[in-house]
Amino acid sequence: MTNPQPPKLFDLSGKVFVVTGAGGNGRGLGLCMAEGLAEAGGRVHCLDRLERPHEAFYESQKAAAELGNGGSLEYHQCDVANSQTVEAVMEKIAVEKQRIDGLVAAAAIQQVTSALDYHQDDIAKMLSVNYTGVFLSARACARQMLKYKIRGSICLIASMSGIIANRGFIAPVYNSSKAAVIQLARNLAMEWGRIKEDGSGGIRVNCISPGHIMTPMVKANFDAGEANREEWENNNMLGRLSEPEEFKGAGVFLLSEASSYMTGNNLVIDGGTTAW
Ligand SMILES: NC(=O)c1ccc[n+]([C@@H]2O[C@H](COP(=O)([O-])OP(=O)(O)OC[C@H]3O[C@@H](n4cnc5c(N)ncnc54)[C@H](O)[C@@H]3O)[C@@H](O)[C@H]2O)c1
Repeated sequence: MTNPQPPKLFDLSGKVFVVTGAGGNGRGLGLCMAEGLAEAGGRVHCLDRLERPHEAFYESQKAAAELGNGGSLEYHQCDVANSQTVEAVMEKIAVEKQRIDGLVAAAAIQQVTSALDYHQDDIAKMLSVNYTGVFLSARACARQMLKYKIRGSICLIASMSGIIANRGFIAPVYNSSKAAVIQLARNLAMEWGRIKEDGSGGIRVNCISPGHIMTPMVKANFDAGEANREEWENNNMLGRLSEPEEFKGAGVFLLSEASSYMTGNNLVIDGGTTAW
């Protein structure tokens, strides 16, 4: 009897990925997710709104190249709220690589303002990135997956704030934009899951809902006095904030064969905040 090798469930060698929100703001979640995919062998295209990425991107790009496993990081400027730009960037990547295997949609903005004081323009601005931007990224990516008949996987970054009123965090539009993302994943999973007669389809769509992560976005909240670090640490069962690196494993899981039967769902990784 032969001794079969265990399947390389988490191997992303030769696969092509897009990660939004992965270049503009220091070591945010997007860049760390991109690093994780490259560490597993993926060729990762990082999108962000800035013309040139933050210095942290170049450090990650160098580290990925030094691994020598075929994994890589490449940067593209892209405003995810602009449909034409998102479609053009996604098409360019697909034409060049003849495939796109997965997406992590992490680009988002945040605003701490009470509901009574929220300006209508600010509501529209927030939703244009956090909801519409995620929708446009997922759709443009799926379009290429369908065209190249790739049975890909899409991971939308939502938040625990999409399923609970995040205690003491006065961000009504941000929080409800994340609830919309969780619902969007279910609908996209339903639309793109079945394999059609022409061989296209078979695309999985899930969310990751993180708890508090020590990223530039959260540091800005602490610096502005909009949140209290000790309170947030005490708000979960592990008694600490998470680091963006702690989500790499979930990203590789969702974008690899390891999660082949998971779709339309929401992976909550919050140190137990929503389990009290
Ligand atoms: N930090 C947390 O505690 C936390 C918790 C739960 C969920 N999240 C989610 O994780 C994701 C990453 O957050 P983060 O904390 O790393 O934030 P961040 O601000 O550090 O990163 C967000 C990135 O998105 C980019 N971006 C914003 N608008 C864009 C646009 N229109 N087009 C392209 N790029 C754009 C920014 O330039 C930035 O690089 C977000 O979806 C956020 O809502 C964060």
